[in-house]
Amino acid sequence: MQVVRDPQAMQAMALAKRREGARIGVVPTMGFLHEGHLSLVRIAKAESDWVILTLFVNPTQFGPQEDLDRYPRDFERDCALCEAEGVDVVFAPETAAIYAPDHTVYVVEDVLTSGLCGASRPGHFRGVLTVVAKLFNLTLPDMAVFGEKDAQQIRVIRRMVRDMNFPVRIVGGPILREADGLAMSSRNKNLDAASRQKAPRLCQALCAARDACAAGERNPVALRHIVLDRLGDLAPGAVDYLELVDDETLEPLGEPLTRPALIALAVQFPGVRLIDNMRLNSFISE
Ligand code: PAF
Repeated sequence: MQVVRDPQAMQAMALAKRREGARIGVVPTMGFLHEGHLSLVRIAKAESDWVILTLFVNPTQFGPQEDLDRYPRDFERDCALCEAEGVDVVFAPETAAIYAPDHTVYVVEDVLTSGLCGASRPGHFRGVLTVVAKLFNLTLPDMAVFGEKDAQQIRVIRRMVRDMNFPVRIVGGPILREADGLAMSSRNKNLDAASRQKAPRLCQALCAARDACAAGERNPVALRHIVLDRLGDLAPGAVDYLELVDDETLEPLGEPLTRPALIALAVQFPGVRLIDNMRLNSFISE
């Protein structure tokens, strides 16, 4: 496994691989890898010949009051995990190599990003799309794998790929959960003991809504109430958002639910904001 720091070297290597006819798979990450990331690597390995994992804590997707400085990092451990998974290249550039001090060009999407995390984290998706576009240009992938936990992110990236004609196939990897249901996230490490105990409620609350929907509940207001109820003392104060939206367009859905829906929420714990989501698709197909 090679560790590449220099963007030009990365691009040259990727170009050479493509000329050899290799199908390149990329797994973009911000590091502090967990089993969820490794499951994305396995998808990339199954669907391509040469796998690059990018490891870059992207400053432009963090707001001024957010956790850029506290975002967990462990480069040596990440490299060891990648090596064990058979990753071919870890691309880990320095910030200064990715962003010129006077950079002025960004990628912006302004419809899918108007709600959910886009509403509570202004500028976040501009940073995500900009860095993902750069990473695509540097790693020249045929396919890229992103986790479904960041449900809005993967939809926004798919829209960028479509609208900007990137020749990259976007593949979603299912959410991986701890034994108690908590969605795996690098940020889980920063939860204090009390928050860690409460955090599985996000999943439990979404499961309760999913089960109610499966049992025939089609009223978004009632489904929201079920979630809020299960969140207990986290609601409403700690709830940043809780939305039932169209699974594809992310538009808020009215009553009754007649289209595949996504129920998504963000909850703010001390110093850590967690997101989670569940699809209600399978029940809303009649
Ligand atoms: O999902 C993430 O880890 C990041 O948002 C990404 C896609 C690597 C861009 O920095």
